[in-house]
Amino acid sequence: MPLVSDFPVEKPVLVTCGLPYANGRCHIGHLRTYVPADIFVRTLRKQGQEVVFVCGSDTHGTPIVMNAEELGILPGELVEMYHAHFDEIFRRMGVEFDYFGTTDAPSNHHRTLQIVEALIEAGHVYPRRIELAYCPRCDRFLPDRYVEGRCPYCGVRARGDECDQGCGKHLEPGEIRDPVCKICGREAEYRTQEHFFFRLSRFKDFLLQYLPGLRGTSNARNYAIEWVNQELRDWCITRNMEWGVSFPGHEGLVVYVWVDAPIGYISFTEEWAKRTGGDWEAIWRGDSRIIHFIGLDIVYHHCIFWPAILKGAGYTVPWAVVASGMVKIEDKKFSKSRGYIVWVDEDYLAHGFHPDLLRYYLASYTSHTKELNFSWKIFQEKVNKELVGSLGNFLYRTTLFAYKNFKEVPMAAVSSEVMDRIGQAIDEFTESIGGYEFKRAVDSAMTLSDFGNTYFQSMEPWKLVKTNREACAGVIKDCLQIAKALIVLFDPVMPGLMEVAWRDLGLRESVHTVSYDEALVELEGGRPILKPEILFNKIDDEKIEEMERILSKRIIEAVEKEMKNKKDGEERGRSDSITLDEFERLDLRIGTVKEATSIKGSEKLLKLTVDLGETIPRVIVAGIREHYTPEELLERQVLVVANMEPAKLFGVESQGMLLATENGVLLEPDEPVKNGVKVK
Ligand code: 2FM
Ligand code: ZN
Repeated sequence: MPLVSDFPVEKPVLVTCGLPYANGRCHIGHLRTYVPADIFVRTLRKQGQEVVFVCGSDTHGTPIVMNAEELGILPGELVEMYHAHFDEIFRRMGVEFDYFGTTDAPSNHHRTLQIVEALIEAGHVYPRRIELAYCPRCDRFLPDRYVEGRCPYCGVRARGDECDQGCGKHLEPGEIRDPVCKICGREAEYRTQEHFFFRLSRFKDFLLQYLPGLRGTSNARNYAIEWVNQELRDWCITRNMEWGVSFPGHEGLVVYVWVDAPIGYISFTEEWAKRTGGDWEAIWRGDSRIIHFIGLDIVYHHCIFWPAILKGAGYTVPWAVVASGMVKIEDKKFSKSRGYIVWVDEDYLAHGFHPDLLRYYLASYTSHTKELNFSWKIFQEKVNKELVGSLGNFLYRTTLFAYKNFKEVPMAAVSSEVMDRIGQAIDEFTESIGGYEFKRAVDSAMTLSDFGNTYFQSMEPWKLVKTNREACAGVIKDCLQIAKALIVLFDPVMPGLMEVAWRDLGLRESVHTVSYDEALVELEGGRPILKPEILFNKIDDEKIEEMERILSKRIIEAVEKEMKNKKDGEERGRSDSITLDEFERLDLRIGTVKEATSIKGSEKLLKLTVDLGETIPRVIVAGIREHYTPEELLERQVLVVANMEPAKLFGVESQGMLLATENGVLLEPDEPVKNGVKVK
């Protein structure tokens, strides 16, 4: 396992996070990747490593266009709104990128084109005519989410680009069976068109040699090796859309979103370099360490597609891929549509919870690669027991005791046992972070906090201060040193609160800028201590019950919505198609108009008498006055629904329905026929 002891290095280091789609609000699931990445970067910096940390909004792809269409706004407007949202949430959560860009920026269009052209030039991209879902009614091809149907692998209902409810496979254009247009709901057909493919199959040997040495978490590496050993199919990298990065030389085609999105990692580094005078090429074309933090669901893209593209276009390939496990909400699979979701703004920050508490939860709940369950009860327990009960208690009681009894850091020396303990905690913490074991890192810091509490308790300084002030000064000096070390250790995890604690210790320079070595530097005797603030407060049961109620309400609303959708769907299904039996129940006949008069009070209706070959002609009221005068209709043959239920219109009972186009143009037989003849 690579350790943080791999750092610092002279080589440039870049850390990135999977780009959030600018298509919805930030939820706890997102933070599961971003918070540990931010902790990692802060820890590396504390080790003296220079790191560039970039991310940005993923702005292309069909869901964004479809959502914008639904809201009646432009995709660019939708993207701008969510980009600003994520930017703000990350800042508030203390996730501090050096650059947070968007994939629709000119620099990303430019870099994507350059890479695509380089791939074409090297013969890694080729055209192929393929069958694609096409909606004759909407008169357009249906890329990705514009089409739904059956998965060709497992048969389950699937989206055009992914079998999201079944086997989870990525679906290539044209693979979906029984395609249905998502815009109009009609059956789609297949039509052929030329698209462009990336020759992924050509990169098999490269990937087999590259992947075993890929650092990061073993889940990413192992999945990727398994896939490469199975089959590497060439990959369609163009789509029929307007929104996106135009594919060079082909109007109406854009580059598939999964090409221009990771290229964002490069263009954001370029933007960072523009701002700071940094060297982006040293990172992307030189000997560097590129570390991608992602969710487990996008391992394929980052460990297979992406390194192959980079290799093919002559860029540096990633050094490590770190994949976080998925998130559950109250032990149920995370799902927006089923209501199992916790929004970071509305459900967390707006309720006054400190961002650092959630950062702590996400880092310490479980190992980074395992599934993380977010539960309000567990959140309460972790805050109350671990943060209030151990860390907060130790920092507060130590600083308060020192403030009350000494007003300054005592002159005594720190015991070697305490220094050893601190050294051990730093080693464990940094080694764990280097192995992407965030929980283990936090646990080792918490162990130091527990040790501090036990030490304070067993030394009884409140008694000692009365009997042996000098010995008491020694104990308090030890405790203050532990406090200092804890603040330095926890700083990457809870940067906001640790900065406050740092100042309470009378230390002025920001804790964010101090290195781990500083934790082993003895606090200077005689430095004034401030009256400490209470950093962590207990969360009471009522607050947690309130949060649980909010979640339950959302789940109930989601169930109700789903039921309504299902019902609407069934109703639509009923009206959309009819059986042959249903059609045969229609009594369609040809008749001749014998009389036609206007109806008083109506500008649209005419009263007709129509001979349907029966003894008594029918009276039929028809909405065709805007198109025909009564005279024009006389002796004209018309198509009638003869078994229409009678209806009274403007006081006249209509005994059938005249058929016309939706704008009122009548239908008549090609040649005169007998009155009353049936139409089938
Ligand atoms: O899965 C997702 O949420 C994507 N928006 C991640 C893109 S990461 C990168 F490759 F750009
Ligand atoms: Zn359609």
